[in-house]
Amino acid sequence: MRLEAGSSSDSREDPPGLSRGPRLVHPSVAVGKVILFGEHAVVYGQPALAVPVAAVTARAEVRAARGEWIDARTFGRHYRLAQATERDPLALAFRLAVEHCGQPLRNLELVVESTIPVAAGLGSGAAVATATVRAVAEHFGVHLAPEVVAALTFESEKLLHGKPSGIDNTVVAHERPIVFVKGQPSEPLHVARPFTIVIADSGLASPTRITVGDVAAGHAQDPERYQALFASIGALVARARAIIEGADPALLGPVMDENQRLLEALGVSAEINERLCAAARAVGALGAKLSGGGRGGNVIALVAPDSADAVAAALEAAGARRTITTQVGS
Ligand code: MEV
Repeated sequence: MRLEAGSSSDSREDPPGLSRGPRLVHPSVAVGKVILFGEHAVVYGQPALAVPVAAVTARAEVRAARGEWIDARTFGRHYRLAQATERDPLALAFRLAVEHCGQPLRNLELVVESTIPVAAGLGSGAAVATATVRAVAEHFGVHLAPEVVAALTFESEKLLHGKPSGIDNTVVAHERPIVFVKGQPSEPLHVARPFTIVIADSGLASPTRITVGDVAAGHAQDPERYQALFASIGALVARARAIIEGADPALLGPVMDENQRLLEALGVSAEINERLCAAARAVGALGAKLSGGGRGGNVIALVAPDSADAVAAALEAAGARRTITTQVGS
């Protein structure tokens, strides 16, 4: 999560009466995510498929304090809420959640930690906001349905990404594979036969706001070409959904490769994405594509379970900062 300027970084000053040290006693947790198919086109009304990634998490806790504080040292920030700008997504999630619970935001500290790399396509911003909203609800003993959590965190996503579709905060709030169409309630994605993907963090941070903005500029200049690309991606998503819900998931490989080709045509790929996809395919991945905003961020590769280690090693040798192997639909 990129927190906006306008408030102090770690001030070396703790909220009075509160100490440093292991911070979270009963944290609320939110997982990361990857988009399997359909990123970018989803902003323009096409469907997309996304799944939660439990290997990375954001955690948050709200507790009584003297004054109002946000302790987000994972992101190098520790500040009074009053110092947050109007464009601070974390402060917004905190404020909106407290307001939704019908409580005054007084004498409270929000503490946030995360293992999710920022601007890496793994849903860091959505997960941090979701953990925050859940922590507020937990603090006040309020139950919030996933739809409500998603609606509250969407406001933070707008600050972070400019023109988000809502897919990231929705899959993180629901914590299950989803079929998502902007502006509609998400549907569960039924995984008929579990399959394995390797997620590779390219190490190249790439804020989604930039690539989404560039696609918007391209679309404004050449709407016909971009609409055709979005429609082709939408058709691939429908094909991928049919495979996931009914057929042999190995058939997803070529669909991934084709989705990657269309993302390259949209201008959101980068040399590192293509290098990682090629490295994965060269050692037996069934298909590979960038996932999320692109131009860095992460790449996902579909693998047979017994080739996951070889693909992960090849991805790391080709420059991935780290890899996560995960099963979709357990
Ligand atoms: C980001 O994870 C996915 C994008 O499609 C943006 C969005 O849907 O908001 C690139």
